[in-house]
Amino acid sequence: MAENNATLTVDGKDYQLPITEGTLGPSVIDVAAFQKAGYWTYDPGFMVTAPVESKITFIDGGKGELLYRGYPIDQLANNAEYLEVAYALIHGELPNAEQKTEFYKKIHSHTAVHDQLRKFFEGFRRDAHPMAIMVGVVGALSAFYHEGFDVNDVRHREITAIRLIAKMPTLAAMSYKYSQGEPFMYPRNDFTYAENFVYMMFATPADVNFQVNPIIAKALDKIFTLHADHEQNASTSTVRLAGSTGANPYACIAAGIAALWGPSHGGANEAVLEMLDEIGTVENVPAFMEKVKSREVKLMGFGHRVYKNFDPRAQVLKETCDEVLHALGINDPKLELAMALEKIALEDPFFIERNLYPNVDFYSGIILKAIGIPTSMFTVIFSLARTSGWISHWLEMHSEPFKIGRPRQLYTGETQRDFVEIEDRK
Ligand code: CMC
Repeated sequence: MAENNATLTVDGKDYQLPITEGTLGPSVIDVAAFQKAGYWTYDPGFMVTAPVESKITFIDGGKGELLYRGYPIDQLANNAEYLEVAYALIHGELPNAEQKTEFYKKIHSHTAVHDQLRKFFEGFRRDAHPMAIMVGVVGALSAFYHEGFDVNDVRHREITAIRLIAKMPTLAAMSYKYSQGEPFMYPRNDFTYAENFVYMMFATPADVNFQVNPIIAKALDKIFTLHADHEQNASTSTVRLAGSTGANPYACIAAGIAALWGPSHGGANEAVLEMLDEIGTVENVPAFMEKVKSREVKLMGFGHRVYKNFDPRAQVLKETCDEVLHALGINDPKLELAMALEKIALEDPFFIERNLYPNVDFYSGIILKAIGIPTSMFTVIFSLARTSGWISHWLEMHSEPFKIGRPRQLYTGETQRDFVEIEDRK
């Protein structure tokens, strides 16, 4: 709560701006008084703007700290299953044994999608990017769950969260199967969340004895946990902004998927592999690094808006990456190239001076490649994992009064002028 004030002086008049302390992180200055003073704040990229109060996730970029509901990310990734983490994001606490059973049962009873939705896929070209398909089909869920949906009813909101978390692996795997021209696989509720995803991705109806490799399922579950939430990032802010209008939650999540797609955000793990393709072989690394230093290209999978020392998710995933490559006995020149790149970048002053370290997407890209997931599916997997975070933020926003999001602008266009007839225009 507000304990002291900052003073804003405009035209000789003082305005008191309350300073509010959070439980962690920098205090915030409530700038609402700017309105009274006749000013707006200007903060491109929202570098210092907190549009919300939240209790879900905390990041200290300087310390490389990431907490979901107070739990350090490495403890969750190494000890909890993704669905337990999803429960904690939604409910604030890790589930006890009874709550866990109940939650898993609910998720399992919603893994299938309406049969009519299968037809929706057929409208896409086979070579459509799976993220384009995901934006479409997740948005289309709103058509199946719109009538009778009451955003003010807490039970309706909760069932939406369950449905979304349960159906994302099914839809994600369907978007892959469609691109391969293979039949969709129905979810199997005897599998864990990650096993079921592997099954729906890689099994075929002919392969009746399909076995899920536990190393792959475990690595994926960890990737899901590490990507589950990241406080007010671009896609989560998009979900909140869309949600602030009272829009259907499936449409809000589709908006989040669209925002995640960009190469500066969730699309980076795909961009890492594209970059490795472009570099080709280890001998070409020095020339590529020269292009990076001359600002011609960025080293994808390096750097982060918030983490300026290290990305704690990358630290966990680096270990998993080593484990997976070792356990699967992978001998792929592309992965060797990635490791060479990592080594050079970690030793090069250009990257050291700018605090540019491998981020989570660098290692997740390598792991996903190693386990046979096509590059175009990487961001889809990120969106699957981030759904629990997005919906937690949407639930949090709807659990208390909120305003429609409506940023202001610094207008630098033409001042008022008169309409010009077409024959008089230059
Ligand atoms: N390669 C080369 N130089 C870089 C990179 C990079 N990946 N990232 C930042 N820089 C340079 C940048 O040119 C600038 O140099 P200078 O001060 O000499 O002009 C300096 O480092 C500071 O960069 P910035 O642009 O101020 O950093 P930012 O916080 O605005 O950008 C970023 C963060 C993630 C957009 C950027 O680092 C980037 O584009 N990285 C590659 C894409 C990527 O891997 N994104 C995934 C992020 S992790 C997933 C997620 O959480 O969404």
